[in-house]
Amino acid sequence: MESKRVATLTLDDGRTIELPIFSGTLGPDVIDIRALGKLGVFTYDPAFFSTSSCTSEITFIDGDAGLLYYRGYPIEQLAEKSDFLEVCYLLLNGELPTAEQRAQFNQSITHHTMVHDQLARFFNGFRRDAHPMAVMVGVVGALSAFYHDSLDITDAHHRTVSAQRLLAKVPTIAAMTHKYSVGEPFMYPKNKLGFVENLMYMMFATPADDYVPNPVLVRALERILILHADHEQNASTSTVRLAGSSGANPFACIASGIAALWGPAHGGANEAALKMLEEIGDVSRVAEYVQGVKDKKYKLMGFGHRVYKNMDPRASVMRQTCYEVLKEQKLENDGLFELAMVLEKTALSDPYFIERKLYPNVDFYSGIVLRALGIPSNMFTVIFAVARTIGWVSQWNEMISDSEYKIGRPRQLYRGAVRRDFVPVAKR
Ligand code: SDX
Repeated sequence: MESKRVATLTLDDGRTIELPIFSGTLGPDVIDIRALGKLGVFTYDPAFFSTSSCTSEITFIDGDAGLLYYRGYPIEQLAEKSDFLEVCYLLLNGELPTAEQRAQFNQSITHHTMVHDQLARFFNGFRRDAHPMAVMVGVVGALSAFYHDSLDITDAHHRTVSAQRLLAKVPTIAAMTHKYSVGEPFMYPKNKLGFVENLMYMMFATPADDYVPNPVLVRALERILILHADHEQNASTSTVRLAGSSGANPFACIASGIAALWGPAHGGANEAALKMLEEIGDVSRVAEYVQGVKDKKYKLMGFGHRVYKNMDPRASVMRQTCYEVLKEQKLENDGLFELAMVLEKTALSDPYFIERKLYPNVDFYSGIVLRALGIPSNMFTVIFAVARTIGWVSQWNEMISDSEYKIGRPRQLYRGAVRRDFVPVAKR
């Protein structure tokens, strides 16, 4: 990248350095600080509040305006008009597919949904009450033990094969994780079903009954997967990029993303938000609970975001999906949905939240929808991981495709002991 614009940094000892300023197609400019090392100083930004780690063309977020674009297309339009596999093609390849490209991509993904039969043996090593995310980290990481034929990350074809295997097999493993936790037999994928239908079939069908997914619920889950597919350089995606920068195989990198997503501050928030609503229990306790948040006893799960300082556009679509699913399931009087809306209204009118620009994020309503779809709360973050796999893989592929990429290796502000000599134990 070339730039005629510079930022001049002057240190307190009078030394100065000119640092290039770059502009993207959208969003804030960046100051290229790579030359700072010449001055023997580092920048300091522990949680990366003001640090961009890469250039990317995949997803754009405007946190102040509450905008989210996948390859330039607004999330609201994709959630309404597209389907999950088409969004996967878009994120991975940069353009919406033609009818022929779409058919070929869907065919390829469909025919990669089965997993090596020996993979099922990994599950037996887990207790039945293991958290499904613990199982997902282990079993997805184990995929690299099966697919040695596509691990040359410098080969674009190998990257495509690995990407399609991950996109196709993570839902199968997710469904197996659920089946294992409820003690039911694994259901093999059915190639005649669509991607989301297949996921619901593998999760909810049993050999004893014919299971036909409800099309309204399939559409709702499709929309949920679209909303969660990518979100630029969030914690789990940054984890995948850092793991990938060492040249680790894509299966291991995605397993590292699953591990990072699990945290309650990140993808684990949907499970935590539902637990919070169940703990509040009734609208009469909302005021008391909000006071506890303001007294900093706990956070309001599903609220706040590092980037969005306005409504998360995904939360608005999720709220509408919530309403549609509850109506279809004849749960219109679902107390938790009413409680969530009262909680949202209370928080959005309270100066504590307004001053801190705390709005509902994607996780605030997703737990209610997933619960209404019959998905147990310990599987909520697993569903998030199923959706985000395409985002992780697309971001990983974008990084590895750039021949200029290097291993990520942050520095530190050292505040430990200065040099000292070893003291024998007799003298300590
Ligand atoms: C996701 O990054 C992504 O894009 C993530 C994600 C994706 O798609 O990948 O969007 C998915 O992870 C969504 C976020 C899900 N997490 C939660 O809902 C958990 C609850 N939210 C918080 O933990 C928090 O809002 C974070 C972690 C999401 C963001 O925290 P930041 O950016 O580090 O902000 P902060 O902790 O510095 O908060 C600033 C102030 C603080 O108060 P003061 O010290 O200024 O008095 O806001 C307060 C915080 O205490 N605050 C909250 C709050 N979130 C922030 N107070 C109460 N409840 C909250 N939820």
